[in-house]
Amino acid sequence: MQVLVTGANGFVGSFLVEELLRRGHSVRCLVRKTSNLQWIQHLPVDLVYGEVTRPETLGPAVEGVQQVYHLAGVTKARRREDYFRVNAGGTENLLRACEEHAGDLTRFLLVSSQAAAGPSAGPKPRVESDPPHPLTSYGQSKLEAERIVARFRDQLPVSVVRPPAVYGPRDRDVLILFRYVAHGVNPQLGRGERLVSVVHVRDLVQGMLAVANSEAAVGQTYFVAHPEPVEWSAFGETMARAMGRKVRKLVLPAWILWPAALVSEIAARLARRPATLNLEKVREIRERYWVCSVEKLRREVGFTASVDLETGVRETVQWYWEHGWLPKPKSRRKKAERSR
Ligand SMILES: NC(=O)c1ccc[n+]([C@@H]2O[C@H](COP(=O)([O-])OP(=O)(O)OC[C@H]3O[C@@H](n4cnc5c(N)ncnc54)[C@H](OP(=O)(O)O)[C@@H]3O)[C@@H](O)[C@H]2O)c1
Repeated sequence: MQVLVTGANGFVGSFLVEELLRRGHSVRCLVRKTSNLQWIQHLPVDLVYGEVTRPETLGPAVEGVQQVYHLAGVTKARRREDYFRVNAGGTENLLRACEEHAGDLTRFLLVSSQAAAGPSAGPKPRVESDPPHPLTSYGQSKLEAERIVARFRDQLPVSVVRPPAVYGPRDRDVLILFRYVAHGVNPQLGRGERLVSVVHVRDLVQGMLAVANSEAAVGQTYFVAHPEPVEWSAFGETMARAMGRKVRKLVLPAWILWPAALVSEIAARLARRPATLNLEKVREIRERYWVCSVEKLRREVGFTASVDLETGVRETVQWYWEHGWLPKPKSRRKKAERSR
């Protein structure tokens, strides 16, 4: 089957491309002239240069494809309108291009986000039919993209997946926590319980493929996460075990995020780049429960994520070590030197 992947050179996209090739599909990747192709340049794929914000570039990308996996998006931007222009506007452009140029389309899959749904009110998992209340411009732009997809439901076979925080090799976001742990610190916000859904990138890819290939999933939206949510402190402890090192829990008061975000925003504005931590993001981080239900995915699509946290984190640490993204503890460095 001929498939198109947007955002193919990114973290999740590159794993998806590998799996599609492994399953024997012909993969076309929408990339930009400026895209860093390090994860896909060695793969037998067709590159099509274009941007989701430039509709004139999308016709050749979707022509003759049976499936479109739409992952291109921005998770960090300098302005609210940038989220909407790329995440919502880009989705609409791509859907229009499919309508016009992709006559044999059997599925258009949008990768949205748990951020579009918003946090859960407590430890009880949020379900897909709960009214959404995204807290950030990012989440709101993803929700807008979902609404645009819904508008095309009568013309195209569409589906939406909403992943929570994704971790695994090549990820640079959850890496920040891995790095704290590598330096012996497991940072916690306040003393109360903090429960989150997470998903390993390999599980997410399998879940996306299951949705894209399920007839029952046409016109539907699914959370794709590991069924067991994790306590934030246990996440750090799992990382520490995988690294074979001791960590100290550092409990930070929640208010500390506000001045930290302000400093980060000012620094980012001066450097003319998106801030990693900003005042909006603080609203998301302060929420104690980000738990989503995967019951609908199991019931309708028959998919359940299977990479347990211990295994997923161990594999991720190993990869970070091999690629020099995390410092190895001294004991391991000595052992490696002795065995040389
Ligand atoms: N990672 C997570 O924890 C997570 C969680 C929930 C949902 N998601 C969603 O999953 C998708 C993939 O995320 P990721 O973590 O793999 O992100 P990523 O590594 O930052 O990849 C984003 C991709 O989108 C492309 N892109 C951005 N703007 C574009 C434009 N105007 N035209 C064409 N391509 C454009 C980027 O291309 P360049 O390299 O050229 O910039 C890159 O390939 C995103 O839609 C994200 O919102 C991610």
